[in-house]
Amino acid sequence: MAGPLELTEAGTGAPLVLLHAFPLVPDMWAPQVEALSSRWRVVTPFLDFTRHPSMEAMADAVAELVRGLDAGPVVVGGLSMGGYVTMALLGRHPELVRAAVLADTRDGPDSDEVRERRTRQQAQVAAEGTTPVVEAMAEALPGPTTKRERPEVVAHVRELMGRVAPEWVIAALEAMKVRTGSTGVLAASAVPVLVVVGDEDTVSPPGVARDMAAAAPSGRLAVVAGAGHLSNLENPVAFNAELEAFLS
Ligand code: MLT
Repeated sequence: MAGPLELTEAGTGAPLVLLHAFPLVPDMWAPQVEALSSRWRVVTPFLDFTRHPSMEAMADAVAELVRGLDAGPVVVGGLSMGGYVTMALLGRHPELVRAAVLADTRDGPDSDEVRERRTRQQAQVAAEGTTPVVEAMAEALPGPTTKRERPEVVAHVRELMGRVAPEWVIAALEAMKVRTGSTGVLAASAVPVLVVVGDEDTVSPPGVARDMAAAAPSGRLAVVAGAGHLSNLENPVAFNAELEAFLS
């Protein structure tokens, strides 16, 4: 039995479920919890891929969590890997989603090149632990503006990434590597979808976000200035403004 997802929650109101990125932890949502928990019950689970080892299994675990909130369909948002899970949820359990927020993510599967990189990373983590992969990701994900003007954000990202265990990193890489993607899910969606992207995101670039927003019948695009792949942490003021406008 894989069991329920561990979660933290803050605030009262309608639930807002936020799904974290890789290789990060639910605390990456702290700026959104702070901004929104006076009006929303912000629920941030840890996506434990060692127990739910695929996007489909993780989407089913999130579905179980949503049912347990006993609040009907809820707003679900995810950044990057969290977006992969959100789209899998939207495809498998559309009746549980009231609206979706997809940040710095993509609806297609990995390219062969990315799959090969993930396999190399898995071997590296098995041999050396998480440090080399964390160092590489902490350099690769934030945009140049953040690195130049807000080095404390990069240090915070590195600290958050330092909390994950090697076996979790290997399992999450596997789930991302084998995912088939959610192409077609957005076109079939019947709920409002906010697609957010940092204008300096090179991992899931603005062009991908634009196409995703255009594919969803009720899609809306928000571009966050001066942010790379971790737009919610790199420019929380702009990210939260877009999120609050969408939620209201
Ligand atoms: C993430 O931020 O979750 C990762 O960049 C996702 C990925 O590696 O595909």
